[in-house]
Amino acid sequence: MILLAGGTGHLGSALVQRLTARGMGVRVLSRNPSRARASVREGVEIVTGDVRVAASLTDALAGVETVISAVTGFGPGGDGPRKVDLEGNANLIGAATAAGVKHFILISIHGAAANHAMELYRAKFMAEERLRASGLEWTIIRPTVFMELWAGIIGDPLLKTGTATVFGRGGNAINFVSVQDVARFIERAIVDPTLRGRTLDVGGPQNLSVNGLVEIIAESNGRQAKARHIPVAALRLGAFALRPFRPDIAGLLQAAVLMDTTDMRFDSARVAANPQVGATQVAEIVPPKISIPITA
Ligand SMILES: NC(=O)c1ccc[n+]([C@@H]2O[C@H](COP(=O)([O-])OP(=O)(O)OC[C@H]3O[C@@H](n4cnc5c(N)ncnc54)[C@H](OP(=O)(O)O)[C@@H]3O)[C@@H](O)[C@H]2O)c1
Repeated sequence: MILLAGGTGHLGSALVQRLTARGMGVRVLSRNPSRARASVREGVEIVTGDVRVAASLTDALAGVETVISAVTGFGPGGDGPRKVDLEGNANLIGAATAAGVKHFILISIHGAAANHAMELYRAKFMAEERLRASGLEWTIIRPTVFMELWAGIIGDPLLKTGTATVFGRGGNAINFVSVQDVARFIERAIVDPTLRGRTLDVGGPQNLSVNGLVEIIAESNGRQAKARHIPVAALRLGAFALRPFRPDIAGLLQAAVLMDTTDMRFDSARVAANPQVGATQVAEIVPPKISIPITA
């Protein structure tokens, strides 16, 4: 049995479909099982639990061989990286060790580091360290930015109002990976013992700017590529001003600054012919298929 924490999220939902299609037994951990039932297909077990509450994880782990953690507290309404990505994962790692779990797969993030400017990346790195020190067999997977999520963030307003909102200048090259490709790689990590004890970055085949994403979505829907840009200075100011009241939104604005100003590329040549490079291109998830300008 596989316990999947975060099985109701963007990546988790794709992973549940993939693993159950392969006949693997999956149990989804969710804080809200009735809401989870709406997104998780019939036949998949759902168990109530909150990674912030260690005692809520014991029953969920009964009979489990593999734990996959795809949780995050980052994002609107989230409980924050420290409570979920660090402390929550530490609770899950502790409970998995006590329950005699064989293998723990942690979904971290490309660029996770102890001294990163963003709390999310620091929290992921510290959770990685906990897992490496746990005594469990482990695999750490560090994906780049999920393309389906960003196709929605950019595409929904563009298709509804005719204008996309771009946070910053939008010219920075970013690696987008499909959740389908990340799910495929996680499936491999479950069954391939050579991926144990390894920290693996997983990226998509292209580095693409947000402006490029706007063009692709507009062109494939017969629209003009119109965007309004929120200046980086306004994003920085918003992040600073909102931090005491809405740390979740402040974190998003900080992430937007990061995506516009720092190196977000993935060197797919470095891992060429390797399953760590997803095959899905942005145009494939935005119908109809068109050719894409590659930025870098
Ligand atoms: N989005 C990206 O671009 C990106 C890039 C690289 C890495 N990642 C990582 O990939 C993983 C999946 O990301 P995603 O975008 O698919 O996430 P998501 O859609 O935001 O979903 C978050 C998941 O976390 C679960 N969760 C949150 N707090 C929880 C808690 N206290 N206890 C138990 N479960 C909790 C939620 O489950 P319930 O609401 O059902 O409880 C939900 O399934 C995360 O680890 C994320 O950090 C994401």
